[in-house]
Amino acid sequence: MSPPNLLSTVLLFLLSTVVSVGKETPSPTPKCKAIPGTPAWPSAAAWTHLNESTGGRLLQPSPPGAVCHPGQPTYNASECAAVVAAGGGGWATYEFHSADPVSVDWNQWANDTCLPGEAYPCSPRGYPVFVVNASTAAHVQAGLQFARKNNIRVIVKSSGHDYLGRSVAPFSLSIWVHHLKSTPKTHTSFRPSGCNVEINSTAVTVAAGTQMEELYSFLDKLNQTTIGGGGKTVSLGGYLTGGGHGLLSPTHGLAADNVLEMEVVTPTGKIVIANECTNTDLFFAMRGGGGSTFGILTSTTLLTFPTPHLTSTITALYTPNLSSPNLFPMLAYILSQLPSLSDAGVSGYASFFTNMTSPLSSDPTPLAGIGLSLVLQDSPPSSLSNLLNPILEHINTTYPEEFAVVQIPADYDSFYGWYQVNYDQSSAGRDMVVGSRLLGREHVVDTSKVAEALREMALGGSGSGIMHVVAGRGVREAVPRGEGGDAVCPAWRRAYVHIANSVSWEPLNATARTEAMSRLNKSLRGVRELAPDMGAYMNEANPEEPNWQTQFWGSNYNKLLRIKRSIDPEDVLWCNPCVGNERWKENEDGQLCRV
Ligand SMILES: Cc1cc2nc3c(=O)[nH]c(=O)nc-3n(C[C@H](O)[C@H](O)[C@H](O)COP(=O)(O)OP(=O)(O)OC[C@H]3O[C@@H](n4cnc5c(N)ncnc54)[C@H](O)[C@@H]3O)c2cc1C
Ligand SMILES: *[C@@H]1O[C@H](CO)[C@@H](O)[C@H](O)[C@H]1NC(C)=O
Ligand SMILES: *[C@@H]1O[C@H](CO)[C@@H](O)[C@H](O)[C@H]1NC(C)=O
Ligand SMILES: *[C@@H]1O[C@H](CO)[C@@H](O)[C@H](O)[C@H]1NC(C)=O
Ligand SMILES: *[C@@H]1O[C@H](CO)[C@@H](O)[C@H](O)[C@H]1NC(C)=O
Ligand SMILES: *[C@@H]1O[C@H](CO)[C@@H](O)[C@H](O)[C@H]1NC(C)=O
Ligand SMILES: *[C@@H]1O[C@H](CO)[C@@H](O)[C@H](O)[C@H]1NC(C)=O
Ligand SMILES: *[C@@H]1O[C@H](CO)[C@@H](O)[C@H](O)[C@H]1NC(C)=O
Ligand SMILES: *[C@@H]1O[C@H](CO)[C@@H](O)[C@H](O)[C@H]1NC(C)=O
Ligand SMILES: *[C@@H]1O[C@H](CO)[C@@H](O)[C@H](O)[C@H]1NC(C)=O
Ligand SMILES: *[C@@H]1O[C@H](CO)[C@@H](O)[C@H](O)[C@H]1NC(C)=O
Ligand SMILES: *[C@@H]1O[C@H](CO)[C@@H](O)[C@H](O)[C@H]1NC(C)=O
Repeated sequence: MSPPNLLSTVLLFLLSTVVSVGKETPSPTPKCKAIPGTPAWPSAAAWTHLNESTGGRLLQPSPPGAVCHPGQPTYNASECAAVVAAGGGGWATYEFHSADPVSVDWNQWANDTCLPGEAYPCSPRGYPVFVVNASTAAHVQAGLQFARKNNIRVIVKSSGHDYLGRSVAPFSLSIWVHHLKSTPKTHTSFRPSGCNVEINSTAVTVAAGTQMEELYSFLDKLNQTTIGGGGKTVSLGGYLTGGGHGLLSPTHGLAADNVLEMEVVTPTGKIVIANECTNTDLFFAMRGGGGSTFGILTSTTLLTFPTPHLTSTITALYTPNLSSPNLFPMLAYILSQLPSLSDAGVSGYASFFTNMTSPLSSDPTPLAGIGLSLVLQDSPPSSLSNLLNPILEHINTTYPEEFAVVQIPADYDSFYGWYQVNYDQSSAGRDMVVGSRLLGREHVVDTSKVAEALREMALGGSGSGIMHVVAGRGVREAVPRGEGGDAVCPAWRRAYVHIANSVSWEPLNATARTEAMSRLNKSLRGVRELAPDMGAYMNEANPEEPNWQTQFWGSNYNKLLRIKRSIDPEDVLWCNPCVGNERWKENEDGQLCRV
């Protein structure tokens, strides 16, 4: 063989390689995320490799309801009985869904595909295919890198409490962050990594899977607390990334406002620290820009403060006349008083209802009214009643003999003392969504308009709602660390009340679901019109809120979108409704494809 021939053979070979690469390699930007049973889905060997690289922490769980279905591999009648039993750790409890690798609170997000009950169908169709049971940042990193490399839809589940359905998806790899737990580390002052600043305040560093009850009980032993949520099993990951309100927010701001530092695994698989002088864009976005969008939080440092003494009262006003024309005017009057109460230091929750039996007695008579659970910090008991009495007297004189009043005062040595009695005791395990609106002082002044808006919210929804008195001065005056602050909806800074309702429907009925979503949307029309310039708290909002980009993030949206594009150019993390998700859509089969 002469040299020229050799050269031409080599050239030909090279050329053919180039041509065959062009022909056979799939397009560098596949239209859809890979799904099982197609060539794009990784081989069994690839999954085994992922399992090995996470120390054997890859799970392929059965749907949690499968224990109730004969024919399913995990069928077990006695386990099923425990799952469907009322109370005690079953499907209706937050604990159940929090402890399971794939379960979520609100059935429809797994498309009702395996409800616990023989009468229902059961398939794993609505759930992730594989789960990385992460207990370290390195496990999270391995999972994210695998999903990115293999073009697989990835989701993040912590407690699974999400009202928007972001913590479950079909055909996905789930990074389960619930077991990211460690002994919290306390600080008497804190220097953010790489910064030349010492923050002279107590703080605590905790893992992202930490849940409220764990955080509060740990801090209480030190006579301290921090801003956290009302549910026991709500986890820091979803709560902080969404903003996070709490009973003490009217004094200390939102939970996101109290974050000093975060450790995050980025969508491209880097483990980084984000704070006021390092990765500042990521730090901004991770505090209110929404969960599972900018990265996966693995641990965080939060400000703590001395736990307050709490003076509390639960005040119920109610009538057995469910059609009383004075019900909504009375509720509107109370709502109109909440900004002044908040300015005086009062915080808490006011639940209104149109048809409920008393939780305080066995009397089956249905009642309509409101229950206010309010607290005042570090003040004598009389100061709270002095603030409430004029309001109750006004109601008594305006609507004589119409509303019965019951008051239960109580005193607590600490936030945790209050919380152990007054934590969120609602239940899970239904097909349900919530809707909400942030309201400022000026939005609740016109009580006849407010009464009409409350009527629409209550009767258009499930007959009840809740006014969260968790904003006001502390949120308005909060100074989140770092230039530009944090990413929570700017409407929070003008809000006094976060008002919410809900709708639920029978599972596996597409018509009922569509009707319920439409009712929810209509039920919020009145509060939107009261406060067109405000917005909604993204963690507890209508997942189909029209114009959600602006409603959830206001003027922060464009900055968040820019950060999303730069930190996750390939859309490794995708959820709905989440910043920058506009380039993809879930099709009718649940596969995620580019639009
Ligand atoms: C009973 C109950 C009480 C509540 N009380 C309050 C309250 O008082 N105040 C309040 O503000 N909210 C409250 N909420 C709402 C709560 O903040 C949201 O449901 C929140 O999304 C829960 O976060 P999670 O991590 O527990 O849930 P998940 O459903 O596991 O996650 C929620 C979202 O965050 C993402 N996520 C979870 N962990 C991480 C992580 N480590 N890194 C990145 N993304 C992550 C998920 O992918 C998903 O997008 C309550 C909810 C319930 C069910
Ligand atoms: C991962 O490895 C562990 C331990 O080797 C094994 O028990 C488990 O079944 C594996 N997971 C999967 C999904 O194969
Ligand atoms: C069913 O579950 C119970 C409780 O977990 C267990 O004791 C029992 O062995 C299980 N039965 C079968 C057949 O697996
Ligand atoms: C997940 O990992 C934790 C340890 O971090 C372990 O206790 C737990 O049993 C694991 N869960 C499952 C379902 O394997
Ligand atoms: C830190 O704060 C405490 C209490 O407010 C104060 O006594 C102390 O002087 C402060 N230290 C520094 C270094 O600023
Ligand atoms: C907490 O406060 C109690 C009562 O004031 C006190 O006895 C206890 O020593 C304090 N504990 C700590 C860790 O400061
Ligand atoms: C309810 O109130 C309305 C208006 O005051 C009144 O007409 C009606 O009779 C009342 N119903 C009952 C059962 O008291
Ligand atoms: C109140 O609720 C009960 C129980 O769900 C129902 O039977 C009744 O019709 C309701 N009453 C009204 C006025 O809606
Ligand atoms: C309500 O007003 C009546 C007089 O109309 C008065 O007798 C009663 O004590 C008042 N009740 C309360 C709780 O103030
Ligand atoms: C589904 O819901 C619709 C609307 O609520 C209802 O009319 C219909 O009867 C339901 N279908 C079934 C099978 O229950
Ligand atoms: C929701 O209601 C608003 C009016 O309040 C309307 O403009 C919008 O089209 C509705 N959206 C859906 C999805 O029905
Ligand atoms: C949800 O389940 C229904 C059947 O109940 C099915 O037709 C539909 O395709 C499923 N949707 C998704 C997104 O998987």
